[in-house]
Amino acid sequence: MCGITGYIGEKTATDILVDGLKRLEYRGYDSCGVAGINPEKGLYLKRVSGRVDALDALIAKDPLKKGTVGIGHTRWATHGVPSEDNAHPHTDCKNEVVLVHNGIIENYLEIKEQLLRTGHKFKSETDTEAVVHLIEEKIKGLNVSGAAARSDVLEPMFFEAVRRAIAELKGSFAMAVLWARCPGMLLAARQHSPLVIGLGGGENFIASDVSAFLKYTKKAVFLNDGEMAAVKKDSVLYFNFQGKKVEHSPVTIQWDSTMAEKGGYKHFMLKEIHEQPESVENTLRGRLLPLKGDILQREINLPSELIRNIKGVQIIACGTAYHAGLVGRYVFENFGLPTSVDFASEFSDRAKIVNKDILIIAVSQSGETADTLYAVREAKASGAKVLAITNTLGSTLTREADYVLYTHCGPEIGVASTKAFIGQLAAMYVLAIHFAVIRKNIFDADAREYANELLKIPRLIEAALEGSDAVLKIAEHFAKSEHFLFIARHINFPIALEGALKIKEISYVHAEGYAAGEMKHGPIAIIYKGMPVLAVATTSKMLSLVANNIEEAKARGAEVTAIVDEDSRKLIKASHYITVPRTAEILSPLLTVIPLQLFAYFIALAKKCDIDKPRNLAKSVTVR
Ligand code: F6R
Repeated sequence: MCGITGYIGEKTATDILVDGLKRLEYRGYDSCGVAGINPEKGLYLKRVSGRVDALDALIAKDPLKKGTVGIGHTRWATHGVPSEDNAHPHTDCKNEVVLVHNGIIENYLEIKEQLLRTGHKFKSETDTEAVVHLIEEKIKGLNVSGAAARSDVLEPMFFEAVRRAIAELKGSFAMAVLWARCPGMLLAARQHSPLVIGLGGGENFIASDVSAFLKYTKKAVFLNDGEMAAVKKDSVLYFNFQGKKVEHSPVTIQWDSTMAEKGGYKHFMLKEIHEQPESVENTLRGRLLPLKGDILQREINLPSELIRNIKGVQIIACGTAYHAGLVGRYVFENFGLPTSVDFASEFSDRAKIVNKDILIIAVSQSGETADTLYAVREAKASGAKVLAITNTLGSTLTREADYVLYTHCGPEIGVASTKAFIGQLAAMYVLAIHFAVIRKNIFDADAREYANELLKIPRLIEAALEGSDAVLKIAEHFAKSEHFLFIARHINFPIALEGALKIKEISYVHAEGYAAGEMKHGPIAIIYKGMPVLAVATTSKMLSLVANNIEEAKARGAEVTAIVDEDSRKLIKASHYITVPRTAEILSPLLTVIPLQLFAYFIALAKKCDIDKPRNLAKSVTVR
């Protein structure tokens, strides 16, 4: 978690840093800050407990003016409460070295105790502050005080001091460091937390993700673990932690900066819900037909032999991505491939049972979720190959996985995942059909029909979105409810879980997703008179059973809203209906999830919650 920005060039650094932080706020938003160098006054530091808008207002009262280098940070607290003192950037004793950090320094207490003994004074409770004092100590050790104030003398010393400090750190970090005596160079380092360098003309950038600098440049270099960058306005040099130079060729990012703006919608979440037809279209494009699989094969490079020989699939993911995995299980198994799904955070022990006969599919929008990455490493250690489904080019997952299938959803900014989920579902369908064709588990004609149905989905999602006003009315009716129950069966059961998760995240009310058939085995006891129950009841072989479960809920006083299609509606008796277009049962989650996302959005809107930045959350969870 946490977002980092860095800038060096000709413009006022704080303008660019703050703009970048606003785009990175999804990574954490409990406090934030910037530091720069004012050529006349020295170190410039502004921090607030709260959001980037408050920081912006603080800077406006006392701007940096001529400072053209700086670093910024937006925080999701791990060590130390959200407060101004704990906000980054952190400084050394002399207010000369300043640093922003994302990650966790596991041995910070040890380092801090040593530094306290040598007289360092700490101002915060963070793990990060230990690093900045450690750098100060290393600078002292290099005897810089006597050195000429020339950059060609000081810069290598600064680099060496940071490199030596980093060598003592355990844990995960992405960091950017500035030394007031060396204002022509920023240093960046990465170990298990994402960091990317943006390459502009006469200006360069450091950021946790490309959205922070896309407005200025699309040329980027993703640092690898164990690498540092010395970033000046006209050049960037890359090194490993041993100080040896490494080469990088920049990649060109296809996203453009407007994709990360609200585009007239009140919230990113609503915009992203409405972008879902495109997310599916882009994720399917070119990957379904012709069904020989050779396009996909070339793209992900997954050998046909491996696909033919595996005995099963193990999906690992967290949160919404886990729900996509649960849908994936039904889809793969529909085509005869046994599939298990686990929360990445619960996978550690199960990793021992996987081997080369099991293909791991790791699903992650960000590609940076620590639990997922850890699970991937465990699975690889057990001999399994890993295929990543991710939305994020250059993410850690893409480097650690053996094969990668990108969802092409564009940047997802709303903390509650919507379009990334639909992209993950689309990717599951693409893979399932690809595997089924290669494993000869499907006739070509059936595969073609399945593909044709899938290609209709973007238009059907558009039609589902047209039902938005009906969903709004129902949500307003239930806006004061403190409990929600979502029920469904079979392939829509994960959609019930996802509907409940969406409400919990952004409205802070209690919601349960349950397998409709399980309700009678205990949970039905929670139903009280007037309780909102949302039931997915689209046409399926389970429909009559779902209809029974709806009756059971109603008999105990529930006020049921049924998600139906035009055919199933005739068979279901509910208080409210939300109609989605009919599609093949196996594809129905791509449509049934739409009203549930909208429902959660409208409930949160009625409750005046901070929809894009819900309390206690961050988009990218890079701690375990
Ligand atoms: C829910 C949500 C989270 C993420 C989860 C995994 O709306 O956003 O549950 O789905 O933290 O994140 P990724 O997909 O980035 O690994």
